Amino acid sequence: MTSQEIKQQFIQFFELKGHKVLLPASLLPENDPSVLFTTAGMQQFKRFYVYPSEAPSTRVVTIQPCIRTSDIDEVGDATHLTFFEMMGNFSFGYPDKKDSYFKKEAICWAWEFLTEELKVEKDRLSATYFKGGKGIKKDIESLNILKTIPGLRKIKKQGWDDNFWSLGREGSPAGPTVEFYIDGVEIWNLVFNEYIFKNGRYQSSECKGVDTGMGLERLIMVLRERKDVFETEVYNNLKSQISNLKITSQNLKLVNGTKNQRIILDHKRAAEALAGEGLMPSNKEQGFILRRLIRRLIIILKKYGLQIDSITQNQTILAEAKKFSLTLERGLRQLELLIKNKKISGGQAFDLFQSYGFPFELTRELASEKGILIDEAKFQKEFTRHQKISRASQAKFKGGLATGGEIETRYHTANHLLLAVLRQVLGGHIQQKGSNITSERLRFDFSHPQKMTADEIKKTEELVNEKIQDGLEVNMKEMALVDARASGATGVFDDRYGDKVKVYTICDKNGTPFSAEICGGPHIKNTKEIGEFKIIKEESSSAGIRRIRAKIS
Ligand code: ALA
Repeated sequence: MTSQEIKQQFIQFFELKGHKVLLPASLLPENDPSVLFTTAGMQQFKRFYVYPSEAPSTRVVTIQPCIRTSDIDEVGDATHLTFFEMMGNFSFGYPDKKDSYFKKEAICWAWEFLTEELKVEKDRLSATYFKGGKGIKKDIESLNILKTIPGLRKIKKQGWDDNFWSLGREGSPAGPTVEFYIDGVEIWNLVFNEYIFKNGRYQSSECKGVDTGMGLERLIMVLRERKDVFETEVYNNLKSQISNLKITSQNLKLVNGTKNQRIILDHKRAAEALAGEGLMPSNKEQGFILRRLIRRLIIILKKYGLQIDSITQNQTILAEAKKFSLTLERGLRQLELLIKNKKISGGQAFDLFQSYGFPFELTRELASEKGILIDEAKFQKEFTRHQKISRASQAKFKGGLATGGEIETRYHTANHLLLAVLRQVLGGHIQQKGSNITSERLRFDFSHPQKMTADEIKKTEELVNEKIQDGLEVNMKEMALVDARASGATGVFDDRYGDKVKVYTICDKNGTPFSAEICGGPHIKNTKEIGEFKIIKEESSSAGIRRIRAKIS
């Protein structure tokens, strides 16, 4: 079975069990400042665990591409990936919602899919459940269900770190998990969201839900009885592409050859996926991660005497490579200088990492080829210090719309006003191309061929404030997507919505609709709640796309 067939089988299996097939979310979460990337299938649905009536269906199935950067430094071993696909089935609103399900169905269907569809021999399978901890009770219910499965012989209890899943954010769902393993490799995580993390505590939730995730690449690895995710056909195309290059088995004998090849395979796939969604490399947030992926690729390819254009034609990546080439040359010169002096301190290695984008292992490798050792402990110390600083700067991502933060909700409505006003000031061609909201600012991307004039910016700001002052009501109506479209409501992500959508409408003082957008919400009730709106900056985002940063106070 190919990876494509496995995906189809997964979707069909759950479709037959009454699940609605939904499209995956973007890798770049919209309106969710709590995370940089989509890291799990449940992310686009997290509100539905708390507000199940908003879900397009009680049962949902998806195949979600994910980016996880927490393991970025591990990539190069046999199992870690930055980019992967997660297959998942979901249920919301148990037990009140008709057709909702919980532990029994989720566990039994997972078993059925593995043994009857994928035909994994029962002896190869094992399962784990939550043994309790941190004030949360043992998941006896799951244990009892697992015990009823004929042929499942290996059942093990595990603690918090392995069998409890939580986003750890205020207002987010959490719960014990059951994990299925094939030959001892974890492949499927079934999360039973029966708690909500509220006021810093896990509180029992009236409304329960299921969130499962099975990593496709890992599943294929074990089905093929391979020991390496990169040894599966998911990477075949990429592999044949690079094997035509100089990264042959001969070259792989270079220090860390296999590892380098794996990094190339993973990072190329991740960088192309992110750039393919319109992300631009930058020094901040998501763009910084993309930059790091590309730079690491470039540096590794360089060791083989190769340029990035030998493995990709992606314009964003090529443009970044061009920009990086000067820095790279300077970094290499710096490194040569240090090598000449026969000494590289941990601090200097960190500087190469920080200022020139040289991964430590590369510096170490190039240095060790010349017989120079680097104080790794010192490097690690600097690295940890830096991580602490960047984590602190990421703290601002906390509390997003997903948790219904009050300030973010105000920003969200301001976002609708801004779009409607821009259409008045600049013209009907204006379309929203992206939006990102934190508790501190709003960032809004829209299509427009040229820089806004000072006058246009002033006018936009004034008009938005006028609508705020007018104290207009924000009304929500649920309707079929076709009707919403027909009514003229705008919405950028309609392919991700279900049949029923919410349309938020704001009418002006005369009762004429001023803004009508298909949107998941939440929104404030009256524009007066927004406060004062101020445009901080108007700049280019990418070709034909402008970006406005604005604040409310
Ligand atoms: N959300 C769960 C995970 O990512 C399924 O493992």
